[in-house]
Amino acid sequence: MTDRIDITFAALDKRTEPVAALIVADGPSFGDAGRDLDEQSGGALSNAATAADFKGRMKSAIEVLAPPGIAAKRLLVIGAGQTAEAKENDWALLGGYVLGQIAQRKCEQASVVVDVDGGEEGLTADAIAAEVAFGAMLRHYSFRKYLTRRNDEANGRNGDAADSAAQQKRAAQRREGLSKLVVHCARPEKAKAAFQRLRGIGEGVLLARDLVNEPANTLGPVEFAAEAKKLEKLGVDVEILDDKELKKLGMGALLAVAQGSERPARVAVMTWNGTKSKKVPQPVCFVGKGVVFDTGGISIKPASGMEDMKGDMGGAACVTGLMHALAARKANVHVVGLIGLVENMPSGSATRPGDIVVSHSGQTIEVLNTDAEGRLVLADVMSYAIDRFKPRFVVDLATLTGAIMVALGKEYAGMFTNDDGLAAQLTEASRATGEKVWRMPLDKAYDKMIDSKNADVKNLGGRWAGACTAAAFLQRFVKDTPWVHIDLAGTAMDSGRNDINQSWGSGWGVRLLDRLVTDHYEK
Ligand code: BES
Ligand code: MN
Ligand code: ZN
Repeated sequence: MTDRIDITFAALDKRTEPVAALIVADGPSFGDAGRDLDEQSGGALSNAATAADFKGRMKSAIEVLAPPGIAAKRLLVIGAGQTAEAKENDWALLGGYVLGQIAQRKCEQASVVVDVDGGEEGLTADAIAAEVAFGAMLRHYSFRKYLTRRNDEANGRNGDAADSAAQQKRAAQRREGLSKLVVHCARPEKAKAAFQRLRGIGEGVLLARDLVNEPANTLGPVEFAAEAKKLEKLGVDVEILDDKELKKLGMGALLAVAQGSERPARVAVMTWNGTKSKKVPQPVCFVGKGVVFDTGGISIKPASGMEDMKGDMGGAACVTGLMHALAARKANVHVVGLIGLVENMPSGSATRPGDIVVSHSGQTIEVLNTDAEGRLVLADVMSYAIDRFKPRFVVDLATLTGAIMVALGKEYAGMFTNDDGLAAQLTEASRATGEKVWRMPLDKAYDKMIDSKNADVKNLGGRWAGACTAAAFLQRFVKDTPWVHIDLAGTAMDSGRNDINQSWGSGWGVRLLDRLVTDHYEK
């Protein structure tokens, strides 16, 4: 959907773009490439560094304008800090920072010279160059497909001039801003190979962001399902269950959420089997909440800020992005991603508070608050996923509760699980990727709070521990399957800008789960 930046790799001796950035480590002198550039410029770089007291500290930067002997009109020298301690994600963050610095200089093309090595325990220089490119790719993203007026202003036109084809082409280029980045490093072929898999992951992250940012009028359940279907191009098998099939399958809880909307529900089942083994191994399963818009239904939400509920499909976006990532990098894993797609609307056909519905599992649910709809969707999709696929584990992702934001803010997603091993694996993946999760409790006491007088369970707990009673509700639908629930209400959207994300929709979770799969579920 949104345009991506074109990233390529080249050797150190080809630096021709108008803006260049040189990444150097903390210390008294430049590396080989830096010394080389400094010599070419007759010492302009080292003079500037001395004048500015530049030491190469993390994210410190100087700008040398029109350096003699160098093709670039502007050369940024950017510090990487203590490189021996830097981890993968630190390099990605630095790549994002560098891209931000370059993009401010308004140019179409730029080059980055990676003049650092990994240190003894660190990554190779090739892997560093790839991570820098990955961070740049993520940072470059912005959701501007609907900004026609601002784009015209940026082009200096009033919108009614009949431009020539050449003018239009130039305007389109300017509109995109930076469109091409060349990363220079010692062994470009190796860096390119390392970037190959990161590019797949990055595409998955950006797909998830696109889906979260897209408004609900253009992204209903049917349109979202069509986006999922597009993964077939990557070799994913995508099955779309329509409302008739969902009824036949007995997904009464999910359908109860959808019934107030003009737009019918869908469930997308995305299967990727990248294993080579003859016997198909048990899959791992990811399930996403895909409420394309959450008005609250009859228990309607207050008007203020309701527009944010276009992002209530952040879990489904994450699962779709993850499937894209795994297929694009041809992961050696058997994985099924399922997303429950509905719109929660109030209307004459909407579910009422007090209604009792029969879920896919057979358990009856008393709907006391139609705004606690996400758990109804997940209950049915998880129960179906477990019945049909007998997975090794299920991870569900959902923008499930405001309460998780009260507990953890926008820094951490909440993690609830019945499996200590999975908790440890996810915590480790979280440290590696910087997508942070914090374990929250499951407890009989919370489970008791959702007992209902009139049905097997009710969809509302008490006044307190809203995120925990929501998790307790989900637990009733997973039997003994190893299961993790991730509440990403705080992190999937509006989670604040940083070096690798400047967008409202963050694409949070794709990197985390890709990492979980890489480290523990690929042979
Ligand atoms: N989608 C919301 C949770 C949410 C709120 C996500 C804000 C992102 C930002 C969810 O469906 C919801 O409405 N939850 C209610 C549950 C309550 C009625 C038990 C909530 O958290 O208030
Ligand atoms: Mn709700
Ligand atoms: Zn919701």
